[in-house]
Amino acid sequence: MDKIPLCRPFLGEEERQSVLEVLESGWLTHGSKNKKFEDNFAQYVGVKHAITMNSCTSALHIAVEILGIKGEVILPSFTWVASANAIVTAGARPVFADIKEDTLNIDPKAIENLITSRTEAIMPVHYGGQCADMTAMVNIAKKNGLALIEDSAETIGGKHNGQMAGSYGVGCFSFFPTKNMTTGEGGMLTTSDSDLDRKARILIGHGIDNTTYQRESSDKPWRREASQIGYNYRMSNILAAIGICQLDKLEEMNSRRRHLAAVYNNTLESIGDIIRPFESHDSVHVYQMYVIRVKDTKRRDGLVYFLRDRGIGASVHFDPPLHKMKPYEDYCNPCRALSVTEKICSEIVTLPIYPGMSVEQVGQICDSIKAYFK
Ligand SMILES: Cc1ncc(COP(=O)(O)O)c(C=O)c1O
Repeated sequence: MDKIPLCRPFLGEEERQSVLEVLESGWLTHGSKNKKFEDNFAQYVGVKHAITMNSCTSALHIAVEILGIKGEVILPSFTWVASANAIVTAGARPVFADIKEDTLNIDPKAIENLITSRTEAIMPVHYGGQCADMTAMVNIAKKNGLALIEDSAETIGGKHNGQMAGSYGVGCFSFFPTKNMTTGEGGMLTTSDSDLDRKARILIGHGIDNTTYQRESSDKPWRREASQIGYNYRMSNILAAIGICQLDKLEEMNSRRRHLAAVYNNTLESIGDIIRPFESHDSVHVYQMYVIRVKDTKRRDGLVYFLRDRGIGASVHFDPPLHKMKPYEDYCNPCRALSVTEKICSEIVTLPIYPGMSVEQVGQICDSIKAYFK
């Protein structure tokens, strides 16, 4: 049997041509492709502004900073470590909330129990392709005067009640190769607030008000004066060229993911030992990951080893949760027990899913899972 990786980017002739065009133009850094990618992405998500960056981690950091947050940010512990790292980098403090057992997304009730006078923002993480309960998030944020940052790294094109992930608050997206679309490395920040857009653009380009590209068409292109201390978080023109093509096929790639998830769901139905992913009635799940649960950690670990031995790139996202990791254990000492998070982390298995995967490959994986539980 051929190996089946956990994920594989869906790249073709369009990306090749687009990159060649940039290489031949000689303009490799932030340029016209960024502008086009940003315009198309903003329109797709349904916001006024989208800003290309070198990663989602950078976008999250910038989001916390442009909102002026220095107090507490409530987020799930069940996420990639970048979510909390970005909060700390920006000089704020992460506070971990538990998740819901069905969607595996942050629990609105848990958030409400953690709000204090120090709380300044909430950061729901849309896990694996499905939006958190954004109706509840918006209500909590409004009621308590909190900022809303969406970590939408894993959900590009997912919707809650017909509205796109990343359009409720300040949205942060990742284009890492495992995500719904890729630029190799890369990220995007979305907002409809023009003031936040301006602040973010200055911060990601060394604290200088104009980009090199904008300066080229001004009367004094040599003037580079920083108005504040900033970073270099820009995305290159080369990667933006890939992003434009990837965004053009995002809907096709996501519907392929949804189809493969449906095949998994049907084929795995007969295996009583596993719990299949839950899709909330008010969301469009875009299956950045296909995550099943196996009750009993030893059996879970055994299944991951079993599949890997057969060349199937099964994995676990995420175990341990952040509050069990050394830097964050120290950070929130003593960390509160997060019972649902801890249980879920010990049960989950991520199975391969990517647009170029065949239905036969899903069948092979399901056969292996059946063999394991026999
Ligand atoms: C939930 C979550 N947040 C943030 C990130 C960071 O994204 P990037 O690798 O683009 O910085 C990831 C990516 O792995 C993620 O899954």
